[in-house]
Amino acid sequence: MMNKVWLITGSSRGLGRSLAESVLEKGDIVVATARKPEQLKDLKTKFGDRILTLKLDVTDPNEVKSVVTEVISQLGRIDVLVNNAGYGFFGAVEEQSEADIRSQIETNLFGVIYVTKEVLPYMRKARSGSILQVSSVGGRGAVPGISAYHAAKFGVEGFSESLAQEILPLGIKLTIIEPGGFATDWAGSSMDYATPISDYAETLGLLKTYLQKNTPPGDPKKAALAMIQVVESENPPLRLALGKDAVELIRRGEKSKSEELEKWLSLSLSTDRDGSLTVFDTDTAKLFK
Ligand SMILES: NC(=O)c1ccc[n+]([C@@H]2O[C@H](COP(=O)([O-])OP(=O)(O)OC[C@H]3O[C@@H](n4cnc5c(N)ncnc54)[C@H](OP(=O)(O)O)[C@@H]3O)[C@@H](O)[C@H]2O)c1
Repeated sequence: MMNKVWLITGSSRGLGRSLAESVLEKGDIVVATARKPEQLKDLKTKFGDRILTLKLDVTDPNEVKSVVTEVISQLGRIDVLVNNAGYGFFGAVEEQSEADIRSQIETNLFGVIYVTKEVLPYMRKARSGSILQVSSVGGRGAVPGISAYHAAKFGVEGFSESLAQEILPLGIKLTIIEPGGFATDWAGSSMDYATPISDYAETLGLLKTYLQKNTPPGDPKKAALAMIQVVESENPPLRLALGKDAVELIRRGEKSKSEELEKWLSLSLSTDRDGSLTVFDTDTAKLFK
């Protein structure tokens, strides 16, 4: 079996770096990308020509295009794409400027879209490939204080759930990775904060204290090994939660959504035209698995 070529965004630190190291230790080839590729020097020294380090800011579509072109010209293919780059922004909606919000969406959602769109034609031609979209438990449920982050991650989930169904018939598999809290710089030096408005202090305080005072339970090395296992699996899941906290939060969220749906059912069902068919009475029902 040929070694796989992995393209990983945001490889300088945290989950991306851990994944790059674990994939290299396993023997595959990694294109490690970072805004400051000099941060990857030690990996280059250790792993030599099995790692290609390239500069990539995922918010720059021209840079995305030239990185993908460079990888194809040097290595001929991309077998695994990991859209990992991202950061959090803390603040109530009113506290965030439009620029803060755009920057969250640009990095955490459009970054994923730009890189995915650029890589897809090569995977489609090859009729194979794996894509991991690093979303978050915050792509499944929301808490007060990081609304723009949630907006971006919910966006990644919808974009990816739809895309996964378009590309599976072409031999390309996609999994959305949903980490809970992991011990990286995400809640530390990478997190940006808005200027607070005192009226929101109490509502946002719980999350702020949690993020600033707790060491997250997740181990980035173990997350990396789980992601490798997903790529090696014959039938990977559409979504994979990582960590006990992620599993519990998703469980609670799904339960409360389902309870609310049932509680308001008669009002929800009251709005159809009398005697009308629904999509579930037609062949189109196949769309909704
Ligand atoms: N750790 C957690 O608790 C957690 C939980 C759920 C989801 N996640 C998600 O996991 C992913 C990785 O985060 P992490 O925990 O590893 O955090 P991290 O330690 O802060 O690492 C984030 C990485 O993303 C890169 N990055 C940020 N903006 C970028 C941009 N515009 N272009 C390219 N790279 C960019 C950073 O590069 P620089 O070094 O240049 O800043 C860094 O390499 C993110 O998508 C995050 O939302 C993390």
